[in-house]
Amino acid sequence: MKTIYSAIQPSGIMTLGNYIGAVDNWHRMQADANNSCIFALADLHTITVRQEPAQFRKNAMSFYALLLALGLDPKKSIIYFQSHVMEHAYLSWLLNCYTMVGEMNRMTQFKDKSQKHQDNINMGLMDYPVLMAADILLYDTDEVPVGIDQMQHIEICRDIAMRVNSIYGDVFRIPKGVLTKVGAKVMSLQDPTAKMSKSDPNPKAVISVLDEDSVILKKFKSAVTDSETVIRFDPENKPGVSNLLTILSVASGKSIETLEKEFEGLMYGHLKVRTGEAVIEMLKPMKEEYKRLINDEAYLLSCAKDGAERAAAIAEKTLRRFKDAIGYVSL
Ligand code: TRP
Repeated sequence: MKTIYSAIQPSGIMTLGNYIGAVDNWHRMQADANNSCIFALADLHTITVRQEPAQFRKNAMSFYALLLALGLDPKKSIIYFQSHVMEHAYLSWLLNCYTMVGEMNRMTQFKDKSQKHQDNINMGLMDYPVLMAADILLYDTDEVPVGIDQMQHIEICRDIAMRVNSIYGDVFRIPKGVLTKVGAKVMSLQDPTAKMSKSDPNPKAVISVLDEDSVILKKFKSAVTDSETVIRFDPENKPGVSNLLTILSVASGKSIETLEKEFEGLMYGHLKVRTGEAVIEMLKPMKEEYKRLINDEAYLLSCAKDGAERAAAIAEKTLRRFKDAIGYVSL
């Protein structure tokens, strides 16, 4: 059995980019009988940026419901909130003592986020990768499916784990980062050279997986393309059209080449409408299931509790192993 671990922050909305780039992949990994999958809502990471309490709670429940609605199965996989398993924060402290300030200072995401949140460059923001390393190492993870922007964090996780192992012997399993499918990076609909981001101030740039159908269609219709008229996959010169083709390819299950042929002689307008419709169709079953689940908080909480207990059973053992290796007195 291979252990797969991944997590997503329950902040703001879940975007089409999150769905195509991450969650849809988790879904595929869960379907493989040789995988044992653990998926977390990284809600301890979320407060590195200030959250309004009522909204934070609402987002967290909404993300949990979305994971289930999108087809992740709480019986097959472990699906839980990071904040419900105490070992994450605990291991993160221990790992801090094996992580150099200089290493954290060099992290690209830390530098970016410090720029963006200059009024709140808190220690958590800097320590973010160590908590993420704790997440991964607690579960003897083999593979971590992530987007390219998280690869640096996986690298540092491996570095920290190997450092610990070189001091104490075999404490941690060394995980591997696996990039989510190539071409599955979804770009902003208004600036197709930038990643679709939930923090984009322009709502027209971002599709929420919970957007109303009419809103989704409208956003695709006003997607930025270019001044040519040819529908061709060329991310360099035609980022907007290429982004639409990528999204349509995922939503329709057709290859990009097939789509290029289908759209020969047609206009950008056709591509925009077809992409919007395909996305609406793709999200439809999920939305119905979401509506049912979000009104059943008791069920969601019982799944989350079960997930947390199963996660904790694994995490406790790993933490104990490390503490014993360090030399802590155990009772
Ligand atoms: N930092 C990741 C992101 O923002 C989320 C995350 C937290 C994560 N812990 C993780 C991803 C562990 C993979 C494994 O996308």
